[in-house]
Amino acid sequence: MAQSPPPRVLIFPLPLQGPVNSMLKLSELLCLGGLHVTFLVTDHIDARLRRFSNVQSRFHSYPGFRLQSISDGLPENHPRGDKFLEVFESMKVHTKPLFKELLQSSGGGGGGGRISCVIADGGLGFPLDVAEEVGIPLFIVRTISAACLWVFFCLPQLIQSGELPFTGNDDLDVMIKSVPGMERYLRRRDLPYFCRSGNVADPSIELYKCESTNNPRATGLILNTFEELESPILSQMRGACPNIYTIGPLHAHLKAKLAATGASLPDFSNSLWEEDRFCLVWLDDQPPKSVLYVSFGSLATVTRAQLMEFWHGLVNSGQRFLWVIRQDSVAGESQVPMELLQGSKERGFVVNWAPQEEVLAHPAVGGFLTHSGWNSTLESVYEGVPMICWPYFLDQQVNSRLVEEEWKLGIDMKDTCDRSVIEKTVRNLMEVRKDEFQRSAAQMASSAKTSLGDGGSSVSHLERLIQDIKAKSV
Ligand code: UDX
Repeated sequence: MAQSPPPRVLIFPLPLQGPVNSMLKLSELLCLGGLHVTFLVTDHIDARLRRFSNVQSRFHSYPGFRLQSISDGLPENHPRGDKFLEVFESMKVHTKPLFKELLQSSGGGGGGGRISCVIADGGLGFPLDVAEEVGIPLFIVRTISAACLWVFFCLPQLIQSGELPFTGNDDLDVMIKSVPGMERYLRRRDLPYFCRSGNVADPSIELYKCESTNNPRATGLILNTFEELESPILSQMRGACPNIYTIGPLHAHLKAKLAATGASLPDFSNSLWEEDRFCLVWLDDQPPKSVLYVSFGSLATVTRAQLMEFWHGLVNSGQRFLWVIRQDSVAGESQVPMELLQGSKERGFVVNWAPQEEVLAHPAVGGFLTHSGWNSTLESVYEGVPMICWPYFLDQQVNSRLVEEEWKLGIDMKDTCDRSVIEKTVRNLMEVRKDEFQRSAAQMASSAKTSLGDGGSSVSHLERLIQDIKAKSV
């Protein structure tokens, strides 16, 4: 009798670089675990992945992998990057019925067979409703920190207790009491930026208020974190949502799994931009732990004035730096200002997009000035690189507080952008308090590695996830 094919899982990330990157890693881990995967992205992301990443060639070795795309309902020339609320709104209207059709149709697996399980980013919302209507089990995956997700869970209590709303003009150092487990360190300024809107009907508050009701509806909640990093928060969250799988850091989990199978490590580029690999050659010429890597991820934009504050702060600190400035990251400018590209060549190197994981793993890198996006934070934690945090939005305000107060892995510089503060903070991280930060970063990196070793927490959670998917897919 012919053997039935392995269950096919449909993975649907948010159409953003961070979530696409980590959910591709999850896809590869599931393929290695014997499952078939359909990776569903919007047409816009599909075009960028095909152009800039090596996804197609890399997944050749997994015959059960399919890359499939779906419309987000927006015109091709829409400036999606900085207008993600518009993208979500459009997807709710235009993508939702297409998604339902896809799950219902027999060809929903992209020519690869019936879909028996869905793993969707909880930020999308509608896949959960659709999966319930169609009767397919759905696991929610979140590519943000457990800490930020827990803050989202607690939004109704924050409103009920009167701690929300407030505005940016109120005292932002007031402590927050309605997020259990975070009372010791969470201030108003550490809540997601949209909490400062002064309006409980703010669209973002509306969007995230449902987390505490949505997540428990799913078959399980998958988080890109590890137990040792966020255990106090995770135990709080398990009270509301018991079936949680902590399987991160995903990028390192995948490398560990491939290394264990004896496979040679491929180039993991999931980039939506072209990487400048020459910066690695430049790093080869720098002394150990001497370079501050500077990057604000794939979405953050800065004004020209802020950019110049960073430039002066970095140059005046006297430290070496490697700085990623995306073409579209300076508000109102289509090009990186020339003075930056020409200045301080011997100590500073500016690129449009870097192979970040390799940069953070490079021995010359001793610090990371980051926007505290969750992938960047985990990549830095894993490599033992201390951080200066300059959060931009969403989960980043929460993450940066944990980096400084809970994990002691760096300095939170939120709500300031002043050249003398930047200069002093960079000197503190790279010189004055270097040993202290390097020590705590090395300890946390070691915990991350333990979670991925034999019998490690992330390894056990992934095994349980794969078993549960197989059991639910019969
Ligand atoms: C966004 C939010 O910022 C983040 O907080 C949320 O958790 C997910 O969505 P993004 O802003 O892009 O993502 O930040 P981050 O999560 O840090 O992801 C950026 C990814 O791009 C990282 O995996 C990083 O390695 C990669 N990257 C960044 C590069 O490969 N090259 C670069 O030059 C910069």
